[in-house]
Amino acid sequence: MITLKNQRTYARRSGRSAIEDVMAYENIEWDKLGFDYIKTDQRYLSHWRDGEWDQGTLTEDNVLHISEGSTALHYGQQCFEGLKAYRCKDGSINLFRPDQNALRMQRSCARLLMPAPSTEQFIEACKQVVKANERFIPPYGSGGALYLRPFVIGVGDNIGVRTAPEFIFSVFCIPVGPYFKGGMKPNNFVISSYDRAAPQGTGAAKVGGNYAASLMPGSQAKKNNFADCIYLDPQTHTKIEEVGSANFFAITHNDEFVTPKSPSVLPGITRLSLIELAQSRLGLKVIEGDVLIDNLGDFKEAGACGTAAVITPIGGIEYNGKLHVFYSEKEVGPVVSRLYAELTGVQSGDIEAPQGWIVKV
Ligand code: PLP
Ligand code: COI
Repeated sequence: MITLKNQRTYARRSGRSAIEDVMAYENIEWDKLGFDYIKTDQRYLSHWRDGEWDQGTLTEDNVLHISEGSTALHYGQQCFEGLKAYRCKDGSINLFRPDQNALRMQRSCARLLMPAPSTEQFIEACKQVVKANERFIPPYGSGGALYLRPFVIGVGDNIGVRTAPEFIFSVFCIPVGPYFKGGMKPNNFVISSYDRAAPQGTGAAKVGGNYAASLMPGSQAKKNNFADCIYLDPQTHTKIEEVGSANFFAITHNDEFVTPKSPSVLPGITRLSLIELAQSRLGLKVIEGDVLIDNLGDFKEAGACGTAAVITPIGGIEYNGKLHVFYSEKEVGPVVSRLYAELTGVQSGDIEAPQGWIVKV
């Protein structure tokens, strides 16, 4: 059986060229995709010089040639986004809420003193990349999607701690399957004693520094057989903030949808969408507020949500050596199941989307 991993190994051993390597992916087993880098055909590249972005082009080259003095390399002046394109039953392609990613990128850029692409440029770049890599979009019903990774980095000759003289805005894409093991299966998480962001720091911006800070705690959690770690609020360490690279939500025994609200949490677009769907489609009361780590018994179900994570049910959370199990470590609870069906139905075009959520490519 040809899997993605051994295709790559064969390609390396046989000395195939990058293009031949890419051709090999025509045999991709779509239902076996995970979340791994694959070089696709084209990526979008735009430069900011003399106060404006150039027109941007598509290129086959997946290597950036940048100054050794680039602020992205030394001072973490960079931010990124993540969004997905979905193949629909009728063959058309859906982008899910790209305007929200553009707006979040504009906020991240402002926080790090970088120029941001306009919403129009952002969406146009995403569309171009999806069209140019159409053969990498997982088929309808496979459970996979084309993950788009837009980013802005500070580049150019520089050494002082100041904003860069030039910037790059790029978008590349990768076909992906589930981010967490098993996809829509319960995973266990562990509370970290580390913080990913400071109370008034950059937690709400999608910047690389937050993820660098999460590498070591995340790796420790995985070594101990957890899917990832959960961060508490950096000020008091009493409230749940974020699940690794996803947002946290839980369902109370009274069928309320609860999700943390904090200036150091990333305002996720999946979280935002679930808030709206929980209210308007499932009739749940939504509470954005504190989730005290000592009150996990208030909840009958819990989940992690994000573009990569989609909805990953949380089986249990370990805190101070004790595992608190929500619905089950093996089965998915009914409310999380309904939220998942609604969200993924809207994304793939099977269920009518609220106005403005879907952009056709
Ligand atoms: N929180 C963090 C730290 C993330 O990396 C992500 C992923 O993007 C999310 C939350 C969820 O955000 P979104 O739903 O916009 O993907
Ligand atoms: C996303 O869901 O888009 C993320 O950014 C998560 C992770 C892969 C960093």
